[in-house]
This record gives sequence, C-alpha cells and structure tokens, in this order.
Amino acid sequence: MEPVIPNLRGQPKAQAYAELRAMQDAVLEGCNDVISAMATTSALLHHAFGHLWSGFYRVVEEGQLLRVGPYQGTLGCLDITVGRGVCGTAASERRTIIVEDVGRFPGHITCDPRSHSEIVVPVFDSKGTLIAVLDLDSETPGTFDDSDREGLEAMMGWFARLSYVPPPA
Ligand code: SME
Repeated sequence: MEPVIPNLRGQPKAQAYAELRAMQDAVLEGCNDVISAMATTSALLHHAFGHLWSGFYRVVEEGQLLRVGPYQGTLGCLDITVGRGVCGTAASERRTIIVEDVGRFPGHITCDPRSHSEIVVPVFDSKGTLIAVLDLDSETPGTFDDSDREGLEAMMGWFARLSYVPPPA
C-alpha cells in the first residue's frame, strides 16, 4: 500500500518541503521513468498544499514549445510557446519565476480565471538540459515566496538524476 500524502497546509514551509522531499525520494526509489516521476511529484504537491493547479509542462521542441504533462487540478492549456506567459518565460530564462499577482504579469496565459498567483520552476536532467517546468497556481494572491522556490528547486533536483530521452517528434 502506498503512504497517504500528508496535509502540509499551514506548516512552516521549510519543514513542509523537507517532509515532502523525503517522501518523493522514498516513493520514487528505483524509478527511472520521467513521466511516472512527474505524475507522482504532482500528486505529492497537490494534495499536500491544495493549490488550484500543480503540474508540469514538458519541453517538446527545444527552445520553442512546452506541452502539458502530468498534473493535478483544473484543466490546463495544452501548449505554451517558449517565451510566452509565466511558464514560457521561466523556460526561456531557465530560472524560477514567482508571480504575486498574475494580473500584473505581461502576457500571462489565463487557463483558469481563479488563478491569482503562481510559481514556475525549471526542471533539468543530468546533463543540464531543460526538460520541463513545474507550475503551481494558487487562488490566493501572493501565495509563493523564496521558501517555495528553495523547496521546489530542491524537489526538482530529483530529475537531475535522469538522462532524459525526449519523446518522438
Ligand atoms: N499560468 C500559466 C499557464 C499555465 S496554467 O495556468 C495551468 C502561465 O502563464 O504560464
């Protein structure tokens, strides 16, 4: 039987992410499948924190196109051009972006009008190739801060163990 994902809402963030990262390591022990790892990581984050949307956009055309990957939450847009919106900007700049108020982010892509703040974290494989971005969207403005960035970048470090084989074009 798989462990139950703890409810970490309201816990100090550093502690919550440490707990979730340990759980990610434990449940993904021996896994070398990037999609399984993304699906499992989305489930951990979504159920622990209860955000509106928690999931991945995968790089399907290097430097050009992101496509929705494993996620939990309401429907996400299917494709995002690299350089557009928060996800596309994080992908093109290869860095984490925190948006306190999506209404103030030029070019923000509205998949769900209830989303008010977000954080997008790049995901790299063992060679430093950008393989995806992690996107967390919240109904509350100003949900994410540097503690989330640190915790999520550490969790995305799990993927740097993998040599990624891109999907066929
Ligand atoms: N908010 C994102 C789009 C993805 S969804 O909201 C799931 C963005 O502007 O990049």
